[in-house]
Amino acid sequence: MQICLTHFLPFAMLHIMFTPQKLYEGKAKILYTTDDPTILLTVFKDDATAFNAQKRGTIVGKGDINCAMSQHLFRLLETQGMATHLIDCPTPNTMRVRAVKILPLEVVVRNIAAGSLCQQTGLELGTSLTPPLVEFYYKNDALGDPLLTGDRLQLLHLATPAQVAQLRTMALQINAVLSEFFDKCGITLVDFKLEFGLDQQQTILLADEISPDTCRLWNQAESDPNLRVMDKDRFRRDLGQVEEAYQRVLERVLAQDF
Ligand code: TMP
Ligand code: ASP
Repeated sequence: MQICLTHFLPFAMLHIMFTPQKLYEGKAKILYTTDDPTILLTVFKDDATAFNAQKRGTIVGKGDINCAMSQHLFRLLETQGMATHLIDCPTPNTMRVRAVKILPLEVVVRNIAAGSLCQQTGLELGTSLTPPLVEFYYKNDALGDPLLTGDRLQLLHLATPAQVAQLRTMALQINAVLSEFFDKCGITLVDFKLEFGLDQQQTILLADEISPDTCRLWNQAESDPNLRVMDKDRFRRDLGQVEEAYQRVLERVLAQDF
């Protein structure tokens, strides 16, 4: 006679016996399974990379900071009716998220010209962009995350035309909410990158993170182009005081209610 062992195991023990499987390790986060297939666990790392991982380093405390900041901003966006993958954060550098199929796109919104936009177009750093610019990049490290045209998006079947239109609308709505919020923190949201995923019902959810790794953030109290930088450009460009800048952004964000 076969005995089903699980009939004799208390629920708590079953829980302990579940071994999370590492699903994916990225440059800044690791994704694990949980005992619920609809929920995943994201661990935020202190590892930092730039220029498609040609530059590597550690930003001490970054995992905790990016997790806490993403949680706060996802909650803010939820209050404004935007669906995100956030469930909760059981520890300082872990986030439980709804399992989604990540679209292989990086959606960048720019309010002020900086970074690759200046390098590729010759626009002067700091040029105001009205209306904000929305760009789609192919999330593909091997290809160096190239900028996509609308036709290339369709050619590669990376998203349907309806999904692309919805992503653009969501990105602009998120930009409006975040720009106003950061402004109250005394910070200018220069540009940022978003990632989205599809849940079981094919609903688009905002995923990944929103942090000084994925945004350009300028301190409004500083006019010096190097001193004002409060984001990963401090690491990319060896400006120093990286940890301090990340910490200062988090303090201002957490101090700002919504
Ligand atoms: P870019 O000017 O280098 O194209 O970056 C635009 C924004 O996107 C900036 O806020 C940094 C963010 N970003 C990422 O989060 N991940 C990336 O891989 C890249 C290239 C940019
Ligand atoms: N491109 C990312 C950044 O600079 C990191 C990387 O590609 O390694 O934010």
